[in-house]
Amino acid sequence: MMLNVAVIGCGYWGPNLVRNFNSLSECEVTIACDASNDRLLHMQKLYPHLKTISNADAIFSDEAIDAVVIATPVQFHYELALRSLKAGKHTFIEKPMASSVAECRELLDLALEQGLTLMVGHTFVYSPPVKKIKEIVDSGDLGGIQYVSSRRLNLGLYQKDINVAWDLAPHDISIILYVLNDTPVSVNCQGKAHISRGVEDVCNMTINFSNGGFCTIQSSWLDPNKIREMTFVGEKRMLVYNDLEPIEKIKIYDKRVEKPPHYDTFADFHYSYHYGDMYSPYLKQFEPLKEECQHFIDCIKTKSKSISSGLEGLKVVQILSAASESLKQNGAAVSIGDLG
Ligand SMILES: NC(=O)c1ccc[n+]([C@@H]2O[C@H](COP(=O)([O-])OP(=O)(O)OC[C@H]3O[C@@H](n4cnc5c(N)ncnc54)[C@H](O)[C@@H]3O)[C@@H](O)[C@H]2O)c1
Repeated sequence: MMLNVAVIGCGYWGPNLVRNFNSLSECEVTIACDASNDRLLHMQKLYPHLKTISNADAIFSDEAIDAVVIATPVQFHYELALRSLKAGKHTFIEKPMASSVAECRELLDLALEQGLTLMVGHTFVYSPPVKKIKEIVDSGDLGGIQYVSSRRLNLGLYQKDINVAWDLAPHDISIILYVLNDTPVSVNCQGKAHISRGVEDVCNMTINFSNGGFCTIQSSWLDPNKIREMTFVGEKRMLVYNDLEPIEKIKIYDKRVEKPPHYDTFADFHYSYHYGDMYSPYLKQFEPLKEECQHFIDCIKTKSKSISSGLEGLKVVQILSAASESLKQNGAAVSIGDLG
């Protein structure tokens, strides 16, 4: 059965979703909606057969539409997703899922009640390097993960309605939650708004886990260099993921520090630094967004749970909300609460 998809929001990211859903054999984008006429004209030029509309109302009352994809700014996600689910449509929401934990919970409950697929656009969990990192961590090759540090820095692109943590950190958080099977318990976050008042453009976040581990996430729109780098420090080996590397995105370093098993005096105490080889595993090449769109269609067809389900979207928003609260308290630890 061919599924008819409507995409709401055709700014920077929406056209990528239209292109990828259209490239799949089991679905077709039949309606594109945007509040801006310029964007609709752009879409019409790219896809002459696409119906373009400026108000989403007609999508929700259209019985031929099976699934709705929401790629508007975050402040509109909740209302549009609520209307979509109420109208009985499977719903895909771009990251972050919504502006608050309460909104996410309501959407999650509604999707469950209606038996509909609700998925969030955590694109990186569909990417070849992140899938490979999960495989390596799960295999135990790195040993127990001691900590993770992540940096996502660039000059811009400034957003008006959300701070840099809500814009960029959903990527790092969704990757970390996917790769580590640990439960986050609290967040510390400090940041500063240098350019737009009240909108932090630099944030440093620490997520603390129930097993005592932690990860740090640095997000910035105010940095001269574009950096997309994550380091996973294991007890046995260390892994560096640089998403800007064209081929060797993952490097595994056979490096570690060992304490002496026993010592009598401080003079006997010597750390042992282990320096081994570095290797870069082979990665299959495919477009993560195409994989993500295919996964949404598969989940609808097979009624299976998505790896970036509404529940995963809620977890990310819980961490972001705790980070916002911590920002107000100048970095104090804020508890995440029950992760749903
Ligand atoms: N998964 C990813 O890697 C990724 C990358 C970039 C952006 N995003 C997400 O995609 C979403 C959109 O981001 P963007 O950068 O494309 O934003 P954007 O501002 O470039 O585009 C948003 C579009 O939505 C339209 N719009 C706003 N409200 C609307 C409404 N009620 N009805 C119809 N159209 C409406 C606007 O006119 C605009 O054209 C955000 O949630 C963002 O976080 C995800």
